[in-house]
Amino acid sequence: MRRLALTDADAEARHRCVQWMLGAGLEVRVDRIGNVYATRPGRDRSLPCVLMGSHIDTVATGGAFDGTLGVLGGIEVMRTLNDAGIQTLRDIEVGFFTEEEGVRFGTDMLGSAVTAGRIPLEVARKLTDADGKTVKDELIRIGFDGDACERRPVPHAYIECHIEQGPILASAGVDIGIVEGVQSISWQRLTIHGEAAHAGTTPITSRHDAGLAAASVVVEARRMCDSGDFGQLRATVGNLGIGGGQTNVIPHLATMTIDLRNPADDQMTAAEQHLASYVGELAARHGVRVAWERMAKTAVVPFHPGIGDLLAATADDLGLPYVRIMSGAGHDAQEIAAICPTAMVFVAGEHGGISHTPREHSAPGACANGTDVLANAVLRLADQP
Ligand code: HGY
Ligand code: MN
Ligand code: MN
Repeated sequence: MRRLALTDADAEARHRCVQWMLGAGLEVRVDRIGNVYATRPGRDRSLPCVLMGSHIDTVATGGAFDGTLGVLGGIEVMRTLNDAGIQTLRDIEVGFFTEEEGVRFGTDMLGSAVTAGRIPLEVARKLTDADGKTVKDELIRIGFDGDACERRPVPHAYIECHIEQGPILASAGVDIGIVEGVQSISWQRLTIHGEAAHAGTTPITSRHDAGLAAASVVVEARRMCDSGDFGQLRATVGNLGIGGGQTNVIPHLATMTIDLRNPADDQMTAAEQHLASYVGELAARHGVRVAWERMAKTAVVPFHPGIGDLLAATADDLGLPYVRIMSGAGHDAQEIAAICPTAMVFVAGEHGGISHTPREHSAPGACANGTDVLANAVLRLADQP
């Protein structure tokens, strides 16, 4: 699945979701960062709504369930309420947020972060992709430069149904996870400037090898994880470019992105500080110049215990066994948690829960169970006075 945010593929999926939303009789609106919300009216429209949602953009090598489960699941909840002729006290909304993955425009949870006020709208609209195209221009190009205010009316509650993207639920033998929070996330870009020189004649001791420095950072990032010195740190260099690319020329330039995750904020801080000092020493040793750029940083986000307990009680009432779990992946819910009571329900994945790959797969029964928990929890919240 390659549906990068605001590309033609994303536009096609956005239009299809809007058609399904309209087909379910919902009122659809688009905001100024391209987030889309569809409303099923309740009896008392003055009350804050209950919001469901997720994202439909994917990474470049993505799967079919990451994000889409929560959006299509939410649309299915609406259709099911229609079929059952149920009218709720509160409005219910289902939405999808722009650029959750951050793969195209460089920072994750973009649309939901603008909604929650963490990223200013104009900063977000000016972000550019690798070809220099801005979020604003791409929103206009695909017809999703909406006029609804991005700082939406505060919901009564927000629930996101999402695949776990890891092995925990499957190894516990359950379909359902009640998510208690999200671990911290740090994204940085490191650019290393060395000096091009002849591969044969340049003595080892007088090289300024940007490639060697970059490779050393990759190895050190993994050593930090294996050492246990930084708690349950996870580090990933998913993007590594070595300039020049000539067999017989010492690389003068290297660029890399470093993705760190940690369930403890203090351990995340310690990891970032260690990496910065390691790179400083490396620069001195190899005579290279380094430049750091902050791409994204979010702290550990705890979800609302009351919403989590409501999800757990709903799973119990449905006879669905579950485990409580901390999310290893980032989600829009971690942004919306800043404006209203929020929690997530996870669905187990196959093949060890592998994700961000076409092998990503969750069994239809597990998806149905997760959507059942979503539906019944939303129904309970939507009838709360
Ligand atoms: O990177 C993440 O954790 C999420 O998939 N955006
Ligand atoms: Mn996701
Ligand atoms: Mn993802």
